[in-house]
Amino acid sequence: MSDRDADVGGLQDHSLGNEIVGRIAELGGISQSKEHLARLFLTREHRAAADLIVSWMREAGMRARLDAIGNVCGRYEGERPGLPCLMLGSHYDTVVDAGKWDGPLGLITAISCVADLNRRGRRLPFAIEVVGFADEEGVRFASTLLGSRAVAGTFDESALNSRDRGGMTLRQAIADFGLDPDHIGAAARTRRELLGYLELHIEQGPVLEERSLPVGVVTAIAGATRLSARLTGMAGHAGTVPMALRRDALTGAAEAICAIEEFCRTDHGGLVGTVGYIHALPGATNVIPGQVSFTMDIRAPTDPHRKRAVTDIVRQLEAIAGRRNLALQLNVTHENRTVPCAPWLKTQIAEAIAAEGLPVFELPSGAGHDGMAMIDVADVGMIFVRCRGGISHHPDEHVELADADTGARVLLRVIENFRPQPAV
Ligand code: GLV
Ligand code: MN
Ligand code: MN
Repeated sequence: MSDRDADVGGLQDHSLGNEIVGRIAELGGISQSKEHLARLFLTREHRAAADLIVSWMREAGMRARLDAIGNVCGRYEGERPGLPCLMLGSHYDTVVDAGKWDGPLGLITAISCVADLNRRGRRLPFAIEVVGFADEEGVRFASTLLGSRAVAGTFDESALNSRDRGGMTLRQAIADFGLDPDHIGAAARTRRELLGYLELHIEQGPVLEERSLPVGVVTAIAGATRLSARLTGMAGHAGTVPMALRRDALTGAAEAICAIEEFCRTDHGGLVGTVGYIHALPGATNVIPGQVSFTMDIRAPTDPHRKRAVTDIVRQLEAIAGRRNLALQLNVTHENRTVPCAPWLKTQIAEAIAAEGLPVFELPSGAGHDGMAMIDVADVGMIFVRCRGGISHHPDEHVELADADTGARVLLRVIENFRPQPAV
């Protein structure tokens, strides 16, 4: 069966998909750089995006506001005001040189679903809240999920003192954004207010495409550990210091990076490790690098596997630094356990997919998502939408209109047929 065969009814009315794709392009046009898409947490462009999302939420019949960390929060009341809500969401920050779909697809789709209910005057026996999380990627302040942690009530106040690469504190950046960093506590929600948390997201991998399926049910979100490393040697003259006497921090980092790659490559159990950022000082052609900072991102299908790998990698880095007479400083900047999706939400997503006439397929998420934080305050369910070539965190990221539309129809069905988990 081809992927298009999997669409129900031949010719489709892609009305939700059209709106979603148009808005993806509009939001994707808000960027710090003309050359590529970058919309980092608490920048001017991030604020412009938040204002646009607020306007879409209001147009969809929601009350909308920003909370103190910059999450865009919309609420569509149920049959009567004040009912507990089904929360839908995804993030509106991006990586650098990003695609347009990672985050915005889930957020925009959720808003379109609410707009559809509103157009039909449909109220449900529960409220719907849509949250555009302000920081999922963690590019600017090294720690990730700051938006969803604020909503889950697990925001660590000490993060307010962390600094971006330009030296600005998170506290100052929040104030410059027009918000009050002393009110982040007020963004926290309680388990009693939330019936569940549902997120639709692009798959960011090739599995659905390989199986010719437009959507899938997520089973779990893989945990991750992120570390920052600093190697310190001795800067010196590139022409005068003999090779044997050098303490070159950059060649030490190069050896460390290759060791990490080799360790993960030969693991064969799904371990992945990435060094995505490196900075060498003083950074001149004719000076031996005296200090190098780099980051590591380590993920594995299970938490014990990832923890063992991190311990082994740290040991290898210590050995390399020792052999080269370099000082090594390591910091864990982010650690998240693997988060299982709730079986009762998986069942309801599967029912909606089947009702669309599509095969039900389950797959895990190797990428991180806001559900990793939301699990502390609600059960989590996720729907994946196929993306072209499995490409993500790259400007070529792409979702076909028909798939965006299918994702929206599935999400709308889940919402309209949603049954809260019976109290146990
Ligand atoms: C978020 O996209 C992550 O998995 O790093
Ligand atoms: Mn991402
Ligand atoms: Mn994402």
